[in-house]
Amino acid sequence: MMASLPDGYRALVLGASGAIGGALVDALRADARCSRVSALSRRPGSQGEPAIDLADPASLAAAAAALRAQGPLHLVICATGALHLGHRGPEKRLADLDAATMAQAFAVNSIGPALVIQQFHDLLAPRERALMAVLSARVGSIGDNRKGGWYSYRASKAALNMLLRTAAIEVARRRPLAVLAALHPGTVASRLSAPIIGDAEAATPEQAARDLLAVLDALPAEGASGCFRAWDGSAIPW
Ligand SMILES: NC(=O)c1ccc[n+]([C@@H]2O[C@H](COP(=O)([O-])OP(=O)(O)OC[C@H]3O[C@@H](n4cnc5c(N)ncnc54)[C@H](OP(=O)(O)O)[C@@H]3O)[C@@H](O)[C@H]2O)c1
Repeated sequence: MMASLPDGYRALVLGASGAIGGALVDALRADARCSRVSALSRRPGSQGEPAIDLADPASLAAAAAALRAQGPLHLVICATGALHLGHRGPEKRLADLDAATMAQAFAVNSIGPALVIQQFHDLLAPRERALMAVLSARVGSIGDNRKGGWYSYRASKAALNMLLRTAAIEVARRRPLAVLAALHPGTVASRLSAPIIGDAEAATPEQAARDLLAVLDALPAEGASGCFRAWDGSAIPW
């Protein structure tokens, strides 16, 4: 696993309390070539990691400062996100739009991960291959939007994709070996998806974690940074 990263690589997963985030942590901790996996979530981690909240930029800065002392990272995955905010499900029609809920969606799905990239990009190993991913969603694709609905979630993931792409251009100037990617994990059984998938087929978080790590591992060193990929490695239109 993660054969493209140096032996003894160090990894960080944010959103480790989530279904996919937790499975990513487990998969990486099972990899003998991985020397450390830090797991951040809204609760303190089992290895002394501080709690973070995407709505609290100072908590992200403090976590980055704490991790900096442990050496550079080769893999950072932001697996946070929200579809149902408060008591509201995703909007079906324009009449459902609510300014406060929309702002919350952007805070969690776009601004929070952007602040994660801001705080953690310079912990990426500067002269080795390093991978940084945010979990996006296919429904954040503007070109692929044929069904409509889910206004805030779609728009906040589209904004996330733009933020990731823009950051990739900047990060490349100082870390030419770093590859940044927005990933769609597929339909995965989780707290987030439970209210909407019902009996529909969904991947297990363990399968999703394996798929996502394989996609990241296979991203070429040149020309891939700033991409939007699905769990099977296919490119998703912006
Ligand atoms: N499951 C799917 O079918 C599917 C499909 C497409 C895309 N995705 C994307 O995949 C990612 C992971 O989703 P999942 O299915 O694993 O959902 P999940 O089990 O609900 O996990 C969501 C994670 O986000 C964290 N989070 C939410 N708000 C946060 C905040 N303000 N600060 C810090 N952490 C926060 C949660 O923390 P708490 O535990 O503290 O709430 C949890 O760790 C999301 O970006 C989602 O949009 C999922």
